[in-house]
Amino acid sequence: MSADSFTSVAEFYDELMKPVPYRMWVSYYLLLLSMQEVKPASMLDMCCGTGIMSELMHREGFSLEGFDLSASMIEVAKRKASQKNFPIRYEVMNACYAEMDRTYDAVFSFFDSLNNITNPGHLKMALETAYKHLKPGGSFIFDMNTAYAFAAKMFNQQDLNKASKIRYRWRGDWDEDTQTITVKMKFWVGEREFEETHIQRAYPIDQVITMLEDIGFVHIRAFNSYTLEKPRQKSDRIHFACLKSL
Ligand SMILES: C[S@@+](CC[C@H](N)C(=O)[O-])C[C@H]1O[C@@H](n2cnc3c(N)ncnc32)[C@H](O)[C@@H]1O
Repeated sequence: MSADSFTSVAEFYDELMKPVPYRMWVSYYLLLLSMQEVKPASMLDMCCGTGIMSELMHREGFSLEGFDLSASMIEVAKRKASQKNFPIRYEVMNACYAEMDRTYDAVFSFFDSLNNITNPGHLKMALETAYKHLKPGGSFIFDMNTAYAFAAKMFNQQDLNKASKIRYRWRGDWDEDTQTITVKMKFWVGEREFEETHIQRAYPIDQVITMLEDIGFVHIRAFNSYTLEKPRQKSDRIHFACLKSL
């Protein structure tokens, strides 16, 4: 992750994410869990950001904990949980090395967080982190952006409407050779202006599945996101679902 990623933007993240259909994501996640026949009580939100999914899952009745590499994102997550009196533990940790000192019935990581890990060895370490934090039979579900999405310029977005609380212009530079996209993000809030650079890597589905198999995950499935169909050539996002063996 580039050094300025998810720093200045943290305070404005929830405002920026207002159009994102997190509630639909919750329904989809619950559907995938039911297909896995996993009935979790405890959950870990890996790369939880400001805790939007953690809070929604807490409202669904699950016991939540989460971690994220960005201290600024975790600061916002903690503040929100304390204002709402939600008993969610949040920690600043790198997914590659995280140690929450306990196990969970389910681990999830949404909104292409794992694409921010651009070194394949490190991605495998992050997947191992999920494994070691799961109880036997526990569920790991996560999503990843695809090379198709990056090549199709999905990161070229802007909202320059003067009425918007936060205006932004993002431009992605896709490098086919390294399978990485470097996104220059410019934001304006009133008179204030700041920039962040986000780098994501696309991983072939087979490579991710092989990593999961090598780690020991079983019942590994990949879906064209928000459906129960197989990934397509033009899938822009993939959901992976797997279990820790009993
Ligand atoms: C697009 S945000 C998604 C946040 C949250 N999952 C959501 O759905 O709103 C990606 C998050 O991944 C986090 N992240 C990136 N690399 C990470 C790493 N190696 N370990 C932990 N968190 C990481 C970033 O700090 C950021 O908060």
